Amino acid sequence: MDKLAIIGGRPLYGVVPISGAKNSALKVMAASLLSDAPLTLTNVPRLADVDMLLKLLEQHGAQASFEGSTLTLHAKDIISTEAPYDLVRKMRASFNVLGPLLARESKAKVSLPGGCAIGARPVDLHLKALTAMGAVIELDEGYVIAEAPDGLKGAAISLPFVSVGATEHTMLAAVLAKGDTSIDNAAREPEIADLAACLNAMGAKISGAGGTTIHIEGVDRLHAAEHEVLPDRIETGAYAMAVGVTGGELTLKGAKADLLGAALPVLEEAGLVIDETDVGLRVRKPEGLCKSVDIITQPFPGFPTDLQAQFMAMMATADGASSIKETIFENRFMHAPELSRMGAKISVDGQTATVRGVKRLKGAPVMATDLRASMSLIIAALGAEGQTMVNRVYHLDRGFERLEEKLAHCGALIERVKE
Ligand code: EPZ
Repeated sequence: MDKLAIIGGRPLYGVVPISGAKNSALKVMAASLLSDAPLTLTNVPRLADVDMLLKLLEQHGAQASFEGSTLTLHAKDIISTEAPYDLVRKMRASFNVLGPLLARESKAKVSLPGGCAIGARPVDLHLKALTAMGAVIELDEGYVIAEAPDGLKGAAISLPFVSVGATEHTMLAAVLAKGDTSIDNAAREPEIADLAACLNAMGAKISGAGGTTIHIEGVDRLHAAEHEVLPDRIETGAYAMAVGVTGGELTLKGAKADLLGAALPVLEEAGLVIDETDVGLRVRKPEGLCKSVDIITQPFPGFPTDLQAQFMAMMATADGASSIKETIFENRFMHAPELSRMGAKISVDGQTATVRGVKRLKGAPVMATDLRASMSLIIAALGAEGQTMVNRVYHLDRGFERLEEKLAHCGALIERVKE
């Protein structure tokens, strides 16, 4: 398993191109199964998760061609409606093929995604929504077996709490359902509006995406389309936080301030100077320590759970104490003990971590436990004294495109050690 060796203490200067958002790319890719016509996606990040979903889509019959960051998917015929355990268990987003297969072929058998390192992550809301649309669902030996003999029908769905995945999955199924669907208490993450834009380009009739109520008027078929994936707001926030730790100035090319939601004012309060420019965002860290800021993770536009780990790394060397409350996932502080190995002063009590800033962290061997936790260790290492060896970097390859290259280009001493 590859490792990353990082020698900290160098400020970052330069330009970082922000990639297309992983969490949008994975959903718009699943949308390709809804139509027998080609879907061309631009600004698709080349990531292990994208490759994994590609394998699954090909297994269902999609033909795929990747050129640079342009991906064309063509699911002319669906040759299998079964998504096997081996291709679904490694990545939860694979479960999103269930809705499109059911909508197009009236049946599907998809492995349950199972738990993951950050919490149990059930799919009950996804299944309730599909059931409300007329699917008959059975669970058997770890698989969801779903049928909609008379096709899916529009329904009024009210989510008991905000779920990104359930909102997207309902949209993916409802576009080809007979009649109208409404989703109340829908997630408002920018990736939802991006998926709606892609589906609408394919001929769907979705309105209200990005707000709390989404309306979908079912159509008979979808056609060929082209869609550009929006920039990755989590990658944007992570590189901004890296500057918070190392100092310097980065231009985050392609980044957009409005995608950051509550993270933007939090970063500014912590001491970063962030300006919108013609090419993206310029992030600068004036001399001195960051200020400590308290955060609570919340659905968009609140502070994103996917930036919580990276923010903790930034607070580890801030002036004063910061309280970090995680409300989305029940087990998302695995980076805390790893940061502590580098000298961070963090105490965790239930869903709240208190971080008491120290002057400087010290390099140490650490272990990446999930994607965003891995990035928090990289950020900590960039500011630490001496060398940090980050083990199990395959997590990073799932979600941060060309990480070492982008950082090294801006002055970081970072090297992949192949094993
Ligand atoms: C998406 O996960 C993202 N993943 C996550 O990013 C992100 O952390 C999360 O949204 C929140 O923003 C992808 O887009 C692929 P949810 P998702 O449904 O859709 C519970 C990353 O690092 N829940 O909004 O799975 C769930 O357990 C990943 O890129 C149910 O109980 O998130 C969680 O506590 C990690 N039943 C809460 O809802 C359900 O049926 C919110 O989850 C569905 C969800």
